Amino acid sequence: LWTMEAFIERSIEQISARVGPNERVVCGLSGGVDSAVCAALLAKALGPRVVCVFVDTGLLRAGERVAVAEEFGSRTSAELRVVDAADRFLAALEGVTEPQEKRRRIGHTFIDVFKDEAKSISGAHFLAQGTLYPDVIESGGEPDGPTATIKIHHNVGGLPEELGFELIEPLRDLFKDEVRRLGLELGLPDSLVWRHPFPGPGLAVRCLGEVTAPRLEVLRQADAIFLDELKIAGLDRQVAQAFAVLLPIQSVGVMGDARTYEDVIAIRSVDTEDFMTADWSRLPHDLLARTSTRIINSVKGVNRVVYDVTSKPPGTIEWE
Ligand code: XMP
Repeated sequence: LWTMEAFIERSIEQISARVGPNERVVCGLSGGVDSAVCAALLAKALGPRVVCVFVDTGLLRAGERVAVAEEFGSRTSAELRVVDAADRFLAALEGVTEPQEKRRRIGHTFIDVFKDEAKSISGAHFLAQGTLYPDVIESGGEPDGPTATIKIHHNVGGLPEELGFELIEPLRDLFKDEVRRLGLELGLPDSLVWRHPFPGPGLAVRCLGEVTAPRLEVLRQADAIFLDELKIAGLDRQVAQAFAVLLPIQSVGVMGDARTYEDVIAIRSVDTEDFMTADWSRLPHDLLARTSTRIINSVKGVNRVVYDVTSKPPGTIEWE
């Protein structure tokens, strides 16, 4: 009989048998569900011998870094190391506007930063990854759909060999819904377990055009307002993914008696089961109105908000 308790017990046995008493496991936390559940499961078996590395790329959403510390750090016995690398990522992205080039630079910088940190962890022989069953199938077989082939997903592929690490993947047999149940069983909060997916390259692929600190700040504020309004309306769990995008154009507006020429924010919300196809969310008009008013009134430099009504296909969920 397969139960979650039995799975946890068996996993703890397997992990303890594999990782010696003086060895440590390095675990990259992305802020997402899979890596957090993976780390929490390992921590259940190994306690503070699990060292979690969370890279603050400077491309995170508002409050994300603090949320990881609170939702994860305070609920497990793993060690949490937050690496502040925003400057390195911004420097790597300077002058870059092409989406795939952004991804490449972010991927390389991520690996460099992660490597530097991992090297400083003594006695670490293992690298943990929150690979799920569908990921195992995808990487083993077909070039599965547009997401897999068109976009370069950044992960720590190639790292284990380079650092002489052995890979440990305790979620390899699980589907997403099972991972969520496991997370709750391990004491992780709802807010983490039901978090919307967030792309590895973060806000960089939602900041169309050049990624600069001031532009990221505009995007971050607008994004936080939209997510807040969704939450107030009680719709944040109903939609699969929602976010703001900063467009690389200005549009004309009027404020008081004066003409303005400022940034445009697009907001996007989608409904989907598998993220391979998606429909745009039929959000209430009042919610859209409140979001637009709040963004324009409180985010400096934005004078227009548009709602994305494109399904996937033909659109993708992200704009880049
Ligand atoms: P698209 O835009 O291809 O997105 O319809 C499908 C899902 O994948 C996420 N996404 C990414 N995730 N690295 C990631 O880790 C990426 O480069 C990337 N691009 C898209 C997107 O947020 C959506 O959930």
